[in-house]
Amino acid sequence: MATLTSVNVGLPKDVAWRGATVRTGIWKRPVTGPVTARRLNLDGDGQGDLAGHGGEQRAVLVYQLDSYRHWQQYMKRDDFVPGQFGENFTVDGLADDEVCIGDRYRIGDAVFEVTQPRVTCYRVGLRLGEPQMAALLVSHHRPGFYMRVLTEGRVRAGDEIAKIASGPEAMTVAQTDALLYLPGHPRPELERALRVPALSPGWQTSFRALLADADGGSQAGGSQARSGNSGLTNTAPPPAWPGFRPQEIVGIEPESASIFSLTLASADREPLPAALPGQYLGIRMRPDPQGPPVIRNYSLSGRPGAQTYRISVKQEPHGVASTYLHQHMKVGDIIDVAAPRGTFLLKNADTPVLLLSAGIGATPVLAMLQALAAQPSPRPIWWLHAARDGENHPFAEEVRTLLARLPAGRSFVSYSTPRDTDRPGVDYTFAGRFDLGRISGLKPPQDADAYICGPDAFMTDMTEALKACGLSASRIHTEIFGAVSAVNPGVVTGPAPAPHQPARVPGGRPGPSVSFARTGLTTPWHPEYGTLLELAEACDVPVRWSCRTGVCHTCETALVTGGVDYSPDPVEPPAQGSALICCSTPTADVVLDL
Ligand SMILES: Cc1cc2nc3c(=O)[nH]c(=O)nc-3n(C[C@H](O)[C@H](O)[C@H](O)COP(=O)(O)OP(=O)(O)OC[C@H]3O[C@@H](n4cnc5c(N)ncnc54)[C@H](O)[C@@H]3O)c2cc1C
Ligand code: FES
Repeated sequence: MATLTSVNVGLPKDVAWRGATVRTGIWKRPVTGPVTARRLNLDGDGQGDLAGHGGEQRAVLVYQLDSYRHWQQYMKRDDFVPGQFGENFTVDGLADDEVCIGDRYRIGDAVFEVTQPRVTCYRVGLRLGEPQMAALLVSHHRPGFYMRVLTEGRVRAGDEIAKIASGPEAMTVAQTDALLYLPGHPRPELERALRVPALSPGWQTSFRALLADADGGSQAGGSQARSGNSGLTNTAPPPAWPGFRPQEIVGIEPESASIFSLTLASADREPLPAALPGQYLGIRMRPDPQGPPVIRNYSLSGRPGAQTYRISVKQEPHGVASTYLHQHMKVGDIIDVAAPRGTFLLKNADTPVLLLSAGIGATPVLAMLQALAAQPSPRPIWWLHAARDGENHPFAEEVRTLLARLPAGRSFVSYSTPRDTDRPGVDYTFAGRFDLGRISGLKPPQDADAYICGPDAFMTDMTEALKACGLSASRIHTEIFGAVSAVNPGVVTGPAPAPHQPARVPGGRPGPSVSFARTGLTTPWHPEYGTLLELAEACDVPVRWSCRTGVCHTCETALVTGGVDYSPDPVEPPAQGSALICCSTPTADVVLDL
């Protein structure tokens, strides 16, 4: 019979790490005597980052003595102590390739159920002084697992572990872990995993996304082959061409006082590859002929599948690119265009669709409306748009025409400061702003998918309002017209400084250039930086990461041009046209969509 050899707890503490402070509960210490296992935690235990660890589904982390022995041998170390792998229960027995999701165990007075493998996270590497540990746990099939507490009660070191029920489908922890992180993701196995009710909701969502991909893509028009791991990050079909291609401006149209559209065609007038509704183009231009090129993203606002692309640009006062495009571009000019990219994509479904935008944020949701009107879709489709007034209300006529084609289309337009000439009930639905009161008054369908684009505050307010109306967070999708929002789990940060050149430039010959497109920063590479992620951090470019060693795909970033080398190799490669920046270095000049 398996035995509980050590019960380990620890509260989060601040730890110095690479010049930063990390708040982490990965340091656990053995407890002598009984400890009460409660629904959310063992008494005396805590987690530093509840987004990644802890909670009902991850109340207790288990790791096995057999894996201790494996790592001692592999790493040639003899300094491990109980709790070394951040686990609450160090156990003799319960191997990852024997324990199944949904198995239930009685330990002491408490009853537990296995919910999921361990979450891949850099902190286990921090605790062990082995940065690649998160990847090693996966590639050696020794992740350990989480349990939830079905019956609260006391446990103590030395307790026997009695199996009282077997999980349906007999799917082991090691198999489940491999199904998510390692290449392959066979459809029957995904279906099998999804038949285990005890599997945590987070892992179920990941397996559903992989299953949708196995079905040929869950996005409208998304039947093209995918690469990458959609269980870990949003993916899209590979970009239609690498780098930039010249395209000709064949039309320029005003859309409102400050917004104008550019229509782009291939130089040979061949139809351009179809984009998915919601995707954007990267545009490279040289406003200053002596200066470096400037790259900006613009969502496609025209009908997906049309022979040409349309982008719509708001001229920002003092904005470099938008002013250049407005003042210098004319029909017949040639401009460099990167292939459509992006994962803010209209999903294929029968359920209602809410398209919410403010100002220039209308562009990607307009492409979605175009796609829905082209079918025309019978789904309930709501267009909610916030503008200042009629003069600053782009695409008004176009949206009216599109909605008229939809049997269940509805429109709600707010003007924050309508002019006397703006007609209530015709040009706009109400004066003021969308807020919780307005949104809940409309009673949006709870099974809708919502797509939101606009200023940060608008997206935050609308997300909160829709959640308050009963939409689940997984149905609310947003597109940010700027730098990505940072994900740096557990790192204690102050206000983010503006991106800048690295404070310390290593000596020696500089390598290829690295451009962070959204941040508008280009800097030379040097091997001393380590990885592209570490260079971005040295520049305070907002970045997203978790494992920092090629497993979790949190750092996956569109690679607009150039190539990278990996060390270590990712456990599963990223989507074609993207890079895992935590474990890569540039092999040529690169442009990253960061
Ligand atoms: C995925 C994605 C999709 C996008 N889609 C669209 C789209 O469809 N349409 C669109 O218009 N934009 C879109 N954007 C934004 C676009 O990429 C640019 O950021 C935008 O056009 C502004 O670029 P700019 O060079 O004109 O401004 P920048 O020169 O980059 O300036 C940024 C901001 O700072 C302000 N600023 C600059 N200099 C000064 C100064 N001296 N004093 C005060 N303020 C100053 C500018 O007014 C501007 O608001 C998208 C962005 C992303 C990431
Ligand atoms: S941070 Fe996990 S793959 Fe890069």
